[in-house]
Amino acid sequence: MRIDFHSHILPQMDDGSKSTDESIALLQMLVKAKVDTVVLTPHFYRNDENIASFLKRRSASYDKLVQAIEDTGERHFFPRLILGAEVLFTPSLSSDPDFEQLCIEGTDYILLELPFQKFHDNFYSDFVKFLNKCNKKIILAHIERYLHFGNTVNDLYRIIEAGDITCQMNCSSIAKAGFFERNKLFTMINDGIISALGTDTHNTTSRPPMYAQAEEKIRKKCGDNAFNRICLDSEQLLF
Ligand SMILES: [Fe+2]
Repeated sequence: MRIDFHSHILPQMDDGSKSTDESIALLQMLVKAKVDTVVLTPHFYRNDENIASFLKRRSASYDKLVQAIEDTGERHFFPRLILGAEVLFTPSLSSDPDFEQLCIEGTDYILLELPFQKFHDNFYSDFVKFLNKCNKKIILAHIERYLHFGNTVNDLYRIIEAGDITCQMNCSSIAKAGFFERNKLFTMINDGIISALGTDTHNTTSRPPMYAQAEEKIRKKCGDNAFNRICLDSEQLLF
């Protein structure tokens, strides 16, 4: 089963899809890549909005998208949709009484985005405190993106080993990485730490879904077993 674990397809929720037409086009692109299930993960920023308000907006956006899918008359053609959120780490967030409502639908998993910075010791201790107060499981969004802020693969592994943490990697990173970066990504895949792939698609132009391109590269460089293992891990996270 091919699952897109990270997407900004819900219309008018964030800096992703701007209309239901664009959302439909993005889903059609994912169908071409044989993606069966899409987790809808609009950005949630605690400093900008409370959880109740975010959920209300998300529900309205989801209803619009479902109606647009119905209106195509080809509902059976579209992937299964699962509601989620890409939650930006803020130290106090795991104490919020509504925190668990940010879990991916039907699971105990939160897709967590870390700040784009070097992970110094003070960040690490904040993160450990967050995990200690958190009674949900964490999937780290686009783990490879933190390599751009002076963090090494070992720095990332230190974060991952702070708790029972699962990692998602972006398809576009795999598809577009240069030689040196690509080797780091394939090392993480071969080490078995990546359990989910996400397109992190925002639009059909500058950030289209690149699932098929990533699948091709993983199969070529890490082998069919590596790709199949990620698919299986993803399925076990959701169902
Ligand atoms: Fe994202």
